[in-house]
Amino acid sequence: MQRVRLGLIGYGNMGAGHAAQVVNGKIPRLALTAVAESSAARQPSLSGVKVFSEPAALIKSGLVDAVLIATPHPTHAPLALAALKAGLHVLLEKPFAVHKAEALTVVAAAKRRPKQVFGAVFNQRTDPYFRKIRDLIRGGSFGAVQRINWTITNWFRPEAYYQSSNWRATWAGEGGGLLLNQCVHNLDLLQWLAGMPVRVRAHCNFGRYHDIEVEDDVSAHLEYADGAHATFTASTGEAPGTNRLEIAADGGRIVYEHDVLQLVRNATPAAVFSRTSRELFLAPGTTEEKLIGLGHGGQHSEILTNFTAAILDGVPLIAPAVEGIHSLELANAMLLSAWTEKTVDLPLNAALYEKWLKKKIAAARPGLKPR
Ligand SMILES: NC(=O)c1ccc[n+]([C@@H]2O[C@H](COP(=O)([O-])OP(=O)(O)OC[C@H]3O[C@@H](n4cnc5c(N)ncnc54)[C@H](O)[C@@H]3O)[C@@H](O)[C@H]2O)c1
Repeated sequence: MQRVRLGLIGYGNMGAGHAAQVVNGKIPRLALTAVAESSAARQPSLSGVKVFSEPAALIKSGLVDAVLIATPHPTHAPLALAALKAGLHVLLEKPFAVHKAEALTVVAAAKRRPKQVFGAVFNQRTDPYFRKIRDLIRGGSFGAVQRINWTITNWFRPEAYYQSSNWRATWAGEGGGLLLNQCVHNLDLLQWLAGMPVRVRAHCNFGRYHDIEVEDDVSAHLEYADGAHATFTASTGEAPGTNRLEIAADGGRIVYEHDVLQLVRNATPAAVFSRTSRELFLAPGTTEEKLIGLGHGGQHSEILTNFTAAILDGVPLIAPAVEGIHSLELANAMLLSAWTEKTVDLPLNAALYEKWLKKKIAAARPGLKPR
């Protein structure tokens, strides 16, 4: 195969953005050959691109080697499953699914088809700042992580955003709000940097800032198996908001804020200093380094290029889709904790979460829409 024939499912904001990259030749060896868009008003007219109104027709058309799924969240798992079963490679927009139980079905199907490439659009993994932080943490140069604080309250969205598509910000149409839509990127990065916690306690406000059913304000506390803790605070209602990631480790402190990565290294690891120092109030000496101007990487186009290279050349994926179950699990666990007002142990009880979500869908406020 010289090039990958791509079928795009969903030609809304994100789908049209992806299509533009491909049609404008920004992704070598990737050709857009088909689009499936259920809304007639949104169907594009693009030279050499066959348009369908049903994804099933695109999937069995024989016109595509791979699909890119950019539809509302509840369709992600069923469409990914259908495309995988048809033998296609799949690139899936975030989140992986709406709830863990359906995600497990897709993971099982993907594991049975290891030759098909199955990637996810976790584009923030291409950001050099986050890559650097990951190298530092995973490479062990800062020693054991003690605590992570991520305040990510600059996801501001005005009411008009929530009105822009009728599936948004409803339990039935989106399956969640801030956590599943915006923060799923941060939750993916968090588990990519530090692994999965074993326990989560979260407090969520639902429709605090907007006329919506779902959460737009979150404060969560996470516990890891080795005793490390994390706090995760997020909002779509605060302006200007903050994006500050701080990681305290035995070897020092990493802070990422305003495109500056500050690395403060302890001359002696904190635990060693604590055991060996005879001074009552001294802390280890430090050195400081600031990294700036790293840019933000290729983002969506890098993910598309990497997906194409994974199919044609066998290179590893930046974001294997099955890893998307972790951010989904964190988002689900935070919601379950807020609903039950209890700490939630991980791995999450997928059936229990699905039951709660179904209750929320059934109890949706009638008349909150139309939009
Ligand atoms: N990775 C990112 O940075 C990023 C950014 C924005 C959105 N997204 C994701 O992209 C997806 C779409 O979001 P959006 O903002 O483009 O939404 P949108 O509402 O603008 O677009 C969704 C499109 O899918 C179409 N659609 C719905 N069901 C369909 C079906 N069964 N078959 C074919 N078409 C169907 C709708 O008519 C609409 O045109 C979501 O999963 C969202 O989370 C990702």
